Amino acid sequence: MFSRREFLKSAGALATGATLPAWAAAASRSTATKSYALRPAEVELALAGVAGKTNFWAFNGTVPGQTMRIRRGERVQIQVDNGLGVDTTIHWHGVRVPNAMDGVPQVTQAPIKPNIHFDYEWVARDSGTFWYHPHQSSFEQVPRGLYGALIVEEDKPITVDRDEVWMLADIKLDEEGRQVEDFGRILDFGNEGRLGNHVLVNGQPGGRLTVRSGERIRLRLINAASARVFKPAIAGHSMTVIAYDGQAVEPHAVEVLDLGPGMRADIVIDCMHAAGTTFAIVDRHRRSLGEIGRIVYQDGKAVRNKPLKSSLLLPGNRLPEPNIDMATDHYIVFQGGMRGAPIIGTIDGKPGKIQELMEKHGLTWTMNFSAQHEHALMHEPLLHFRKGEHVRLHMINETEYTHPMHLHGHFFRVLAVDGKATRFREWRDTVLMPPRSSVEVAFVADNPGEWMYHCHILDHAAGGMMGTFLVE
Ligand code: C2O
Ligand code: CU
Repeated sequence: MFSRREFLKSAGALATGATLPAWAAAASRSTATKSYALRPAEVELALAGVAGKTNFWAFNGTVPGQTMRIRRGERVQIQVDNGLGVDTTIHWHGVRVPNAMDGVPQVTQAPIKPNIHFDYEWVARDSGTFWYHPHQSSFEQVPRGLYGALIVEEDKPITVDRDEVWMLADIKLDEEGRQVEDFGRILDFGNEGRLGNHVLVNGQPGGRLTVRSGERIRLRLINAASARVFKPAIAGHSMTVIAYDGQAVEPHAVEVLDLGPGMRADIVIDCMHAAGTTFAIVDRHRRSLGEIGRIVYQDGKAVRNKPLKSSLLLPGNRLPEPNIDMATDHYIVFQGGMRGAPIIGTIDGKPGKIQELMEKHGLTWTMNFSAQHEHALMHEPLLHFRKGEHVRLHMINETEYTHPMHLHGHFFRVLAVDGKATRFREWRDTVLMPPRSSVEVAFVADNPGEWMYHCHILDHAAGGMMGTFLVE
């Protein structure tokens, strides 16, 4: 048995093509290639309505980092040049990449040291709304400003007047407009996570969607906040959801969205109000900071007087359909948090109490009675799957907290919440697990490798709610 860390240290390990699945081999014959260079570094930026400059960590000096817009089937090369004083990596959230390109330090690659560069390369198999962010100390690196949108365009997109991206996040500022650098507090790890005191839309307070009367807008909402759940609602407009986490869903109208960290929703808005009017987009979550932004109707004549009639159904991606009749059942039990029943878990294989986990190890959560530290101290995989196995995963949340659970390298269908079948059996890579609930999902474990499975409240992940699934 070789250790994972030794494997990662051996030069060339990342370049091996031996485990490439058939689709990747086929994809490697595709010709169109798009190249990007991303340099994360410290930067000072001006925020609207905030005095002085604010300290960020940013990709190429902007927050969010540049929106990568690519076509389905395109090959993408990204050279990352680490301009930070600390190690980093980049994870392509929602993109079904080969394992070695997944950007998880210690698990799929060695961390990128300061002043060192690393090349990522993968093929965009799925169209949809995705994003990128570091997976190294993400509870700190993401809220400092390291996140960006990644849009893979459909071969045949739906008809809209405009396609817009809103990356939602929050930021914790002091009176001088500086970021409060209180990352990694055990109090945040063990509760709702570290919340900011200002909402940002595409890196600025107060989102503005400027429209003309009659327009149909596709709005891609991405929750890049490290801990905040957003429940956006738009005054005077209905939202038609056409995709969750980038994957097509039967178009349906909603009053309010439920967008946990890491999650995306593509919505279509028909803007049928009069020129010169304004409507608020408000967060209805109980911990909301109020208004997220506004729809502002420009003056001038209407583009059309009736909403477009064309179909909103997206073509959809070829995802492997899980067959429930032949699926194997697997279980994950979640415990912990500062509010609620005390837990007993294991740390480094030995049983311990929550008190001990907290005081000695800074950990506050367990999955299947095991709390895991930063990637470097990762234990054995939580679950093992045969490559191609049809999996039904039962997630049992015994905590008093909401957790957006994210799986790398795969999409799953959400089958049921608390035993009640979901209406759309939607595909997702991140699912919100309400407090004291059970959630059932299913997928085909077809992508070989060791894949992260963790809470996308990044403080919870750092507090023990992370592990891996091994597909081999
Ligand atoms: Cu968006 Cu494992 O992360
Ligand atoms: Cu969580």
